[in-house]
Amino acid sequence: MKIEEYLRSLPHSIMTGEDVELRNDVLREIFRFASLNTNDIFYHLGCGNGSGVVIALQEFGVKKATGIDNSPKKISCAKRTLEEKNLYNGSFRCEDIFHSDINDASVILFWFADEHIIEKMIPKFSQLKNGSRIITIWGPLTSCLPDKVVFPYILNVVPFKRAKDLREQMLAVFETDCIDFVVAWEFAERYSKAIGPKEVGNDRFLTILQSLSIWINAKNLGIACGDEIPQPVKNYMGILRTFFNIEMEHLLNQKST
Ligand SMILES: C[S@@+](CC[C@H](N)C(=O)[O-])C[C@H]1O[C@@H](n2cnc3c(N)ncnc32)[C@H](O)[C@@H]1O
Repeated sequence: MKIEEYLRSLPHSIMTGEDVELRNDVLREIFRFASLNTNDIFYHLGCGNGSGVVIALQEFGVKKATGIDNSPKKISCAKRTLEEKNLYNGSFRCEDIFHSDINDASVILFWFADEHIIEKMIPKFSQLKNGSRIITIWGPLTSCLPDKVVFPYILNVVPFKRAKDLREQMLAVFETDCIDFVVAWEFAERYSKAIGPKEVGNDRFLTILQSLSIWINAKNLGIACGDEIPQPVKNYMGILRTFFNIEMEHLLNQKST
């Protein structure tokens, strides 16, 4: 079956990431990466259980922290935690992020992969005061160049810098002139480690899928190193086809997304 078919067969909550929560050690790493500090007004969009807000207040001493999520269950659980910890400069709001007032934000953690959601939020983010930092994971905001990258964490600073094209954007994220399979693998692995559980589990499978997808995108954009398909790419495609009945070869020479 084609990879697209395989992805469609996965449970909806996995594909949307609804129930994926960033680990506390990862949240701390992200906040250090963004230099979150006592002058900041922090927002976590899609805050889930609220750990991001609690850590921002307790460990990074932000002036104010707000978590927004459209799940009433998650917000009431987050509110309870805040009350238990007596953190008065924190709050949680059960709202749709599209309609939320975030005007006083200086740092926003925004981990959404859906292009429609990202594109709808960019005009809102663009109105924030200059220097405001939007943290994204895996890629910068659509059509923008990143201001700082420690992959998979990306900092987008207002006013955003527009990328000429996807090619320029991808090279800026990977901080290289061309992408070979070793780079693709390393970046895919950093992503799986950041978003996955601490135990290894099926990380290797995810890393194979991610690294192939990075390399194929690079190839289709003309920024893969060399003209040949590297042997590891052929091998991993073979393994996926033979042992998992997943086919990725047809993605080569397609328009990249
Ligand atoms: C961390 S975010 C998204 C993570 C996902 N892995 C991704 O890459 O898109 C998941 C959280 O966002 C919340 N959420 C999803 N859509 C939302 C919206 N429009 N407004 C507010 N919260 C939303 C969900 O309830 C969930 O707790």
